[in-house]
Amino acid sequence: MPRSLCQITDFSADEVHQIFDLCRRMKNKEIVPKPLAGMSAACIFTKSSLRTRVSFEVGINELGGHAIYITDNEIKLGQRETVADAAQVLSRYLGLIMIRTFAHSDVEELAQYASVPVVNGLTDLVHPCQILGDYFTALEHLGPKDRYSIAYLGDGNNITNSWLNLASLIPIDFRIGTDRETPPDEACMERAKGNPDSKILLTDDPKEAVRDADVVYTDVWASMGQKHLADDKGSKLRRFQLNSALLEEASSKAIVMHCLPAERGKEITDEVMDGPQSVVFDEAENRLHVQKAIMVFLLEH
Ligand code: CP
Ligand code: NVA
Repeated sequence: MPRSLCQITDFSADEVHQIFDLCRRMKNKEIVPKPLAGMSAACIFTKSSLRTRVSFEVGINELGGHAIYITDNEIKLGQRETVADAAQVLSRYLGLIMIRTFAHSDVEELAQYASVPVVNGLTDLVHPCQILGDYFTALEHLGPKDRYSIAYLGDGNNITNSWLNLASLIPIDFRIGTDRETPPDEACMERAKGNPDSKILLTDDPKEAVRDADVVYTDVWASMGQKHLADDKGSKLRRFQLNSALLEEASSKAIVMHCLPAERGKEITDEVMDGPQSVVFDEAENRLHVQKAIMVFLLEH
């Protein structure tokens, strides 16, 4: 069975570090692997995307492959035929499948039945490529440290869950500032708490979450597929807006992160997003580099 990335916990801690090392060497152009030479890779999207679509298509081309963009209009995953049948058919044509969709179980089923690697480009549950790219960005800006303190403010969503998954593998002091009614996934919380080298805090006090943090992170209050809940979530999460006053509670050297797209003026102010501590566009760039490393790793294992 090929290796796939459905969520970060599909890797061991050692493999995560191998991917960061591969990413660094590929970004520096020390090595230029072409494991997709002569092959095609599918990029399946049943949700919108700017970064994931473009960075995967560019990354697949840079690894020597040809990217095929597929939307749900064509394949109607799970409707025209089962996910398992689609996985087996796609595997006859392709070297790799990247998918962004709603149900995490669809990605797991695709990975279970495909005979080529499957990479999760975001589900309702997790967004593993984003958080691996973000941790790599923190390494670049802050240098290695035994344990970063990372404050996440806002909705307990796929981004929060992916940070928790990473904290279950490598030491992170992860603080989540969110409303009592918008917590992250319980299983991801438990998994992270199971790592004795990580510290996990869930609080409804934004200042407690941010105090002396190395990284302050936020994301939209209503994710794709939940935009009808935007008003309700907005009223619950307004207190967690990442603004200059809140950022002052963090370490003076803290970096500001957002996976993007941002809803400026809601979860983050212009002043913070465009300010000197913001590394949001480095994060976007590193999606390309880390995803290339993930694809090389999966194709070689
Ligand atoms: N951060 C991210 O995944 O962006 P897109 O939704 O534009 O792909
Ligand atoms: N939580 C957001 C992330 C977008 C990259 C969403 O799922 O819409």
